Amino acid sequence: MKRIITYGTFDLLHYGHINLLKRAKKQGDYLIVALSSDEFNEMKGKKCYFSFEERKKLLESIRYVDLVIEETNWEQKIHDAKEYRVEKLVMGNDWEGKFDYMKEYCEVVYLPRTPEISTTKIKNELKLT
Ligand code: CTP
Repeated sequence: MKRIITYGTFDLLHYGHINLLKRAKKQGDYLIVALSSDEFNEMKGKKCYFSFEERKKLLESIRYVDLVIEETNWEQKIHDAKEYRVEKLVMGNDWEGKFDYMKEYCEVVYLPRTPEISTTKIKNELKLT
């Protein structure tokens, strides 16, 4: 079984997220999503609309997602790759090159982002209405 992992915040789940998860799952058989905890988001200066538990439930209801784990720090990727016997790390290409150091532990693939949609855009545009 080929295990894939991806990392992210996935707040205000949108079709760009779904496209990413669908394409990530196609890279293998089992997709793990490491979902940023609320505390980790705070460290990154991100404030989520949905809590970790709410974001987790949404992701768990998506057919492409097999397991959701918690991401609590930048350093856990090597540990996760070993613990879950991950063969491939998949990220959107806004992260291009950032996780190349993981190539020592698994394949690393950056997929093109879906254009013209992001959580930030939704937040900004809803403020206008
Ligand atoms: N993603 C994507 N296409 C988009 C938006 C996100 O492929 N239009 C991918 C990102 O590249 C990442 C994953 O979805 O691999 C989770 O991204 P996240 O940062 O949670 O979503 P964004 O919408 O980019 O959120 P923000 O605006 O807060 O950065």
